[in-house]
Amino acid sequence: VTHPDLPTRLRGVVGDGGLVTDPEGMRGYLTDWRGAYSGTAALVVRPGSTAEVAAVVRICRELGVALVPQGGNTGLCGGAVPDSSGRQVVLSLDRMRRIRAVDPVNQTITVEAGAVLQTVQEAAAAVGRLFPLSLGAEGSCTIGGNLSTNAGGTGVLRYGTMRDLTLGLEVVLPDGEVWHGLRGLRKDNTGYDLKQLFIGAEGTLGVITAAVLKLFPAVRSRATAWVALPSGGAAVELIGVFQELCGDRLTGFEVMSRQSVDFVLRHQSGARDLFAAVHPWYALVELSDTLPDAALDELLERGLAEAFDRSAAEDAVVASSPSQVAGLWALREGISEAQNYEGPSLKHDVTVPISSIAAFVEATDRALGDAVPGIRIVTYGHIGDGNLHYNLSKPEGSEDADFRARADELARIVYDSTRSFDGSISAEHGLGQSKAGIIADYKDAYELQLMRGVKELFDPAGLMNPGKVLPLG
Ligand code: FAD
Ligand code: MLT
Ligand code: ZN
Repeated sequence: VTHPDLPTRLRGVVGDGGLVTDPEGMRGYLTDWRGAYSGTAALVVRPGSTAEVAAVVRICRELGVALVPQGGNTGLCGGAVPDSSGRQVVLSLDRMRRIRAVDPVNQTITVEAGAVLQTVQEAAAAVGRLFPLSLGAEGSCTIGGNLSTNAGGTGVLRYGTMRDLTLGLEVVLPDGEVWHGLRGLRKDNTGYDLKQLFIGAEGTLGVITAAVLKLFPAVRSRATAWVALPSGGAAVELIGVFQELCGDRLTGFEVMSRQSVDFVLRHQSGARDLFAAVHPWYALVELSDTLPDAALDELLERGLAEAFDRSAAEDAVVASSPSQVAGLWALREGISEAQNYEGPSLKHDVTVPISSIAAFVEATDRALGDAVPGIRIVTYGHIGDGNLHYNLSKPEGSEDADFRARADELARIVYDSTRSFDGSISAEHGLGQSKAGIIADYKDAYELQLMRGVKELFDPAGLMNPGKVLPLG
């Protein structure tokens, strides 16, 4: 199906251990974490160094073979999954996991793209520093994937997305040249900021092989609460209370609808409801500080008291041990997995201005309920960033296939509503293959034309993750 010389040429670069050609060995690389996207591939290549990545890219370019870069394969938009032609090659970074350097004085860490996020967090902690990117898939997602999707997660409120956390990159471009941009500088005004083009490009402009990331002082006190809310809108009031009171010490603020929590209670072993009554929404509030004795519990109690006065909260539990803190985060982080047990989860990862959240949720829920009576709306997310995961599950007792057949129609409802509130149809997961086909309906035509120009400049042969972000042709 692809060029006959390809396996031999690639084996010459990466050796036997760097090539996977048997169907069983390739299986895990061809389907995403959720089982929502599947493809086939000519082979999987696993280079062990930047020089090997460059050699692989050059060979594929010469033979006209398309490449699909892949990290931990936890992405939620099918960006790391090859198409079904059987002609593409998956380029996995899973052998490039080294931490190249840690510089606690410069507050930077230099890592290879295949390094798993959690290992980077641990390497930072080992020198008394914090690498603040944090998300449910951190035990298996990689820095290369985090960069390529401009990952967000639960720390964005205080520390920003990967765009904010990155100082330098090393990238193999589609022609096989290596851009050595591994600078650890916080100021560098020497022209266009090229690294930002590769961040969020979902592997369509080149293969990221290493990065210099920012570190922060380690967190030494923490206070965490699970708060019952009377409505989604109350979350916006609650976050305002804590932002005014705590400023930068508010480092986590997540919300979840009752439906989201219900799924976790049903499917996560050991999970239990924290209140006797059922509440329509919940928030997870976390304060943290670099001081070991920051008295954050007092601050948390003060904020909660004010929230009760304003009727922005109905009940609250403050964690009193690290295991309770972990339990609260598990309730939040378990939503994505729990929803998988309830049939297809139709994911919509949107942002609107936080001031519009209440009206947006009301309008969107109404439109979805009109379209599919009994639909289960699993709304949750990083509300401090205006980012809600508007995930949908089928009505209880209905058929998976019937629900899946309406996926496009339901996505339109969520996205049209998002647009009417001046929002974005992708907050943090990217476009991948899931939204490449519809982005033209939601993004300015001139902006898309400029993006196509960038793609053409970097990848004129169209061999770097084709069909992702921008549609083919
Ligand atoms: P992959 O899935 O392997 O790839 C993602 C994209 O990046 C693909 O387009 C791929 O081609 C490209 N890519 C990967 N590596 C490279 C490279 N080295 N060079 C060039 N391109 C590359 N995301 C969030 O932002 N916030 C969350 O809170 C969040 N929570 C999640 C929770 C769960 C349970 C799961 C399963 C996922 C979650 N995600 C979240 C999505 C996902 O984990 C992130 O998008 C993550 O950054 C992807 O990393 P990865 O290594 O798995 O990338
Ligand atoms: C999360 O925040 O849990 C993920 O980004 C959302 C998801 O899995 O849909
Ligand atoms: Zn998220």
